[in-house]
Order: sequence, then C-alpha cells, then structure tokens
Amino acid sequence: MVTLIVGSQWGDEGKGKIVDLLSANHDIVARYQGGANAGHTIVIDGKKYVLHLIPSGILNDGVKCVIGNGVVIDPVALTNEIKMLSDHGIDVSGRLFISHKAHLIMPYHKLLDQIRESSSSDKAIGTTGRGIGPAYIDKARRMGIRIVDLLDRQYFEEKLRYNISEHNKVITKVYGSDALDPEEIVETYLNFDKLIDPFITDTTTLLNNAIKEGKKVLAEGAQGALLDVDHGTYPYVTSSNPTSGGASTGLGVPPTAINRIIGITKAYCTRVGHGPFPSELNDQTGEYLRAKGAEFGATTGRPRRCGWLDLVALKYSVMINGIQEIALTKLDVLDEMDEIMVCDEYKIDGKPLKYFPVDLPSLNKIECNFKPVKGWNQSLKGIQKYSDLPRAAIDYFNIIEEFTGAEVTIVSTSPDRNDTIIKHK
Ligand code: GDP
Ligand code: IMO
Ligand code: MG
Repeated sequence: MVTLIVGSQWGDEGKGKIVDLLSANHDIVARYQGGANAGHTIVIDGKKYVLHLIPSGILNDGVKCVIGNGVVIDPVALTNEIKMLSDHGIDVSGRLFISHKAHLIMPYHKLLDQIRESSSSDKAIGTTGRGIGPAYIDKARRMGIRIVDLLDRQYFEEKLRYNISEHNKVITKVYGSDALDPEEIVETYLNFDKLIDPFITDTTTLLNNAIKEGKKVLAEGAQGALLDVDHGTYPYVTSSNPTSGGASTGLGVPPTAINRIIGITKAYCTRVGHGPFPSELNDQTGEYLRAKGAEFGATTGRPRRCGWLDLVALKYSVMINGIQEIALTKLDVLDEMDEIMVCDEYKIDGKPLKYFPVDLPSLNKIECNFKPVKGWNQSLKGIQKYSDLPRAAIDYFNIIEEFTGAEVTIVSTSPDRNDTIIKHK
C-alpha cells in the first residue's frame, strides 16, 4: 500500500511536517524527485530540523527511508545532512537506502546553475542555485553520472573527464569563468562513494517487495504541482515532476500501487523565486502573512511571496495529481483575520477563463476574482478534535472542498508535530 504526499501549490506547503506525522504509521518513507533545492521543516517539541534530501520519516525510529532514483543527489548536502542528524543523536545506518540509479549533482551543475542565473537577470528563474536544472539536463541528455557509475573507477573517471571537458567549454567560453579541474573532482567523488556505500541498493526492488509483503509506504514529493516541469507555470518551474506521476517513475513503483493521494495545501499561497503568481498580495496583507507565517525559504532564506488561497490553481492541482484528500496547513496564520479572501475565478482582459492557462503571456495577465470569507478570529492552538474547530474554519474547508472536490482530512495549526487535527481517526 502506497500513500502519496504531494505539494499542491508552489512548494513549502508543510510537506515535511505532515510526512513526519504520518510516517509513524508507515514502514517506509520514500523521496521521489528533486534534490537539495527542497527544504522540509519538522518541529518536534520545539526542536527544529530542516531536511533537504533525506526523507522526513527519518525522525521516527523504525521507519526506513529511501532516496529514490528520481532524486538528484548532491554528495555535499547528503553528507552534511547525515552529520546534522548524527549530531542530534539520530543514526541513519540500517535505515537509509539510496537508489543506485539516482543521478549525482556535480560541481559543474551548481556552477552552471549559479552563473546562468546571475548572467541574465531578465531570464533568471530565481532558482535555489543547487544545480538541479543542469543535473536533470544531463540526465535527459544521457550524459548524467549515476551512483552506480562510482563502482567502476575507470568507467567513472572516463565519463567524468568527458563531461568536464564538455561543460568547461561553456563555463570558460560562454560565461568567462575558470575551468574546473577533473583530478580534484574524481578524488572527492570516489571518497564520497566510500562514505555512502553502505546505503546504496536497488531501492526499486526493495520498494516493490515491501509493497508485495503488505508493508505501508509513504511517498514524499518535493516542491509542488505548480513547479512541475510539465504541468507548472513553465518556464518558472523546477526541472522534475513533483506531481503524482513523478512518484511512479521516481521510485519505480507502478501507478496501480498508489492507493491514497494527499495534497498538502497552505491555507493561503506562497511562492519563492520568480514567475506568475495570480493571487499574490503586494501590500500590507502580503507582508502580514509573511511575518505571521514566518515565510522565509528553508533552503535559501529568501522571503517568500505571499497571497490568498487560489482555488482555481488548487482545483487544477487536484485534477492533475488525483488528490483525494487535502492536508490544510498554517491555518493559525489566518487566526486574527476578520475576513479572508479566496480566488474563485480567473479573468483575462475582463473575460472569465474556463481553465488554468499554460502559456506565460496568459499566466501573467490573470486577474483574480476574490471572494470574501468570514474569518474565525480566534486562536486554534490546542484544538485536537475536528469537531472542536470553530464553525467559520469548517466553512472555509467546505468552500475548498466544494470547489476542488477533495476532502480536507488533516488540519495543521502550528509547526509542531502535535498541533495537527486528523478528521477521521
Ligand atoms: P515543505 O517544504 O513543504 O516541507 O515546507 P517548509 O518546511 O519549507 O515550509 C513550511 C513552514 O511552515 C515550516 O517552517 C514549517 O515549520 C511551518 N509550518 C508547517 N505547518 C505549520 C502550521 O500549521 N502553522 C504554522 N504557523 N507553521 C507551520
Ligand atoms: P520544497 O520541497 C519552494 C523553486 C525555486 C525556483 C524554482 C526553480 O521545500 O517545497 P530550482 O532550484 O529547483 O531549479 O528552482 O523552484 N523551488 C522551490 N520553491 N519550495 C521548494 O522545495 C522549491 N524547490 C525549488 O525557488 O523558483
Ligand atoms: Mg520547503
């Protein structure tokens, strides 16, 4: 049985918190795409952990964690994360399994990501600079270096030298930067191989066997549907498929194995980096949401752009992901509002739109129709039962449910693991 956790907006919806919570009832948690561009925050009894690559199930003893083939792995980020966990008394050995098919982020990927972004400010995406785009480009171009390639020193060295010579042409001739030295990189990666060797395995077989044995698997997505390279606000997207289809390819489990799909949704909207954001608030309310919601990136620390909940985009996300349930997070951020707005219709040049547009000129022209909704105007802190939630909060869920067709089954009222309400226990 596989339960899938997807971000339904532009990332940072609170996936880490919900995965951590649900992993207590699962045997395995598996990350299926993205890389260290992700920042998943978990707070347990006031102690905060930010994970970039290792699944958010690692803080639950006994839960196995898989980094699937669809993830692009930065050795530096991975080893830092293993150390961070070890400093907190969490030993990953025997619990962490990394796919031998996963691609590696190389130093030239990070360099290319950063120089491309800084060299063309009008074309910049506002990436995290973690080398994600260039690593997925090499994968699609069939020149990527996979973890399995580290096994054969001669093969790895040949491949790496060829890749560096190719990339150095662009680095030096197009961007005028210094060429990278292959010798240093070969040694660094072969040393890295020794460190991660105990974790490398055939995670596709591991997961499929576990599913056959009736084990419970939680698949953890990074980013969000609107950052999906196929379905998001292209070209202002990441370079992988955070949407539910990505879980199947990114883990090697068949789509038929996925039984339950939960879309993590912030009670309002945020976005980091550039690109269309129809319900964005460039005013005091936007600033209020940023301050009250502590909306600063978990990976880069950048301020997140904030806006009202966009029901049109959410409905699209529910459709493309097959979201059955919504985990609504950060409800507490709206606690002190008399009135909350939701975007329930898009218009372009005054004409209503019947679909979520795909092209950038249209996406940039969207005007949102905002519908006012009564706020609950009270603190939700300490509420543990769905039936104890104020009427106005339940009305807010009903609006979301009627518009999107998905049911709000989990409600989060603070960063802490304990402040979560499960509708059907
Ligand atoms: P992720 O990338 O989807 O895992 O989300 P992030 O961790 O990047 O961002 C979500 C932020 O909101 C983190 O700082 C969380 O600790 C915090 N958070 C999660 N749920 C809640 C909630 O219900 N209320 C509040 N106030 N903060 C929350
Ligand atoms: P989590 O998993 C929010 C954004 C970047 C940029 C775009 C492309 O924590 O929700 P990239 O570095 O991927 O090439 O950048 O995607 N982005 C995220 N935004 N949360 C994330 O991850 C993100 N990962 C990438 O800001 O706009
Ligand atoms: Mg995040």
